[in-house]
Amino acid sequence: MKLSQRSEQLVESATLAVAAKAAEMQGKGIDVVGFGAGEPDFDTPEFVREACKAALDAGHTRYAKPASGVMPAKQAICSKLKRENNLDYKPGQVLLTVGGKEALYLATMALVDPGDEVILPAPYWVSYPEQVLLAGGKTVYVAGKEANSFKLTAQEIANAITPKTKVLIFNSPSNPGGFTYTPEEVQAIAKVVEGKNIVVFSDEMYDRLLYGNQRFLSFAAASPQAYEQTLTFNAGSKTYAMTGWRVGYVAGPDAVIKAMAKIQSQTSSGTSTFAQHALAAALNGPQDCVEAMRKEFERRAEYMWQRLNGIKGITCVQPTGAFYAFPNVSEAYKILGVKGSLDFSALLLEKAHVAVVPGSAFGCDANVRLSFATSMEQIRKGLDRIEELLGKK
Ligand SMILES: Cc1ncc(COP(=O)(O)O)c(C=O)c1O
Repeated sequence: MKLSQRSEQLVESATLAVAAKAAEMQGKGIDVVGFGAGEPDFDTPEFVREACKAALDAGHTRYAKPASGVMPAKQAICSKLKRENNLDYKPGQVLLTVGGKEALYLATMALVDPGDEVILPAPYWVSYPEQVLLAGGKTVYVAGKEANSFKLTAQEIANAITPKTKVLIFNSPSNPGGFTYTPEEVQAIAKVVEGKNIVVFSDEMYDRLLYGNQRFLSFAAASPQAYEQTLTFNAGSKTYAMTGWRVGYVAGPDAVIKAMAKIQSQTSSGTSTFAQHALAAALNGPQDCVEAMRKEFERRAEYMWQRLNGIKGITCVQPTGAFYAFPNVSEAYKILGVKGSLDFSALLLEKAHVAVVPGSAFGCDANVRLSFATSMEQIRKGLDRIEELLGKK
């Protein structure tokens, strides 16, 4: 059977090899500490689960009407975006999606033509370049400097813009970088794209997971012009520990949202109706559960960062958001005699029984990603093992 060029072009995630090996070792009874998780280790809050049960009992089990999302969910999203992000959207400007991932895919499909350029700051979340590839677009990678916590300056973004630039992907707080742009930095970058024919994909999946005195500004809130040029993406996944529910959303200019809804109506028909009602309950309900999870992540972020910086061959930028540390381990490659992040991760798994994600998957081969969406006990144990392998500073 001959597969399409489209499917053949896609790379399988480099992260899978390490994950598969970790699973195999666990299957053999080996005690592997996993730092690979891309999802909260908490349960979905009880009141959200109850809202889903109530939605099922109330008969919200059919196609969502319209497919773009039920009105209570769209209204709850508009309220959240106003309350937390200072953004005015009408329900018609909102699309409910199968997780945040579908929203990003639909936006890429609705906007990117073959040959269009998409600026992608590195390190980046793994699915962006693959989605651009599926649309026939060209990804223009721009590496953030570690000295600036991997964040791009407005000038660096300006330098990457060409007449073919169609989209700027902007993800803050970042997966995998764990960094967050300050409001001032967002405003400076907004100034660079303002008035140009560029759409900004502002991936705000982690907007509620901020640490220290970090402040957050939605890209669309930077200025009235930025609002016109931005699609704002979010989901229940990270904020409410709802990764398995597959419920996300995007808000933006009417015409783009309509185009995305059209593609969605011919592909997935949207996400499950009862999950949309549960998301509405989560957004409208008490938010102390979010703060409790945030606080715990913050405690772990601080601990992991301190410990990593105490290990030979490792330096780590302090995480200010999301739930990842993204240490530079290039000096550790020398200590261990390995070539890059893939070999380092394989060796770490084999020798220390610790699973991390190679940075090459995110466009940074000098780094690896450690998720702190796992218990303090596991974090302590995993870091003890890495320290034992490489030594203390
Ligand atoms: C930066 C970023 N964007 C989008 C997503 C997709 O989220 P969802 O699980 O809601 O599809 C993720 C999930 O890992 C992410 O880290």
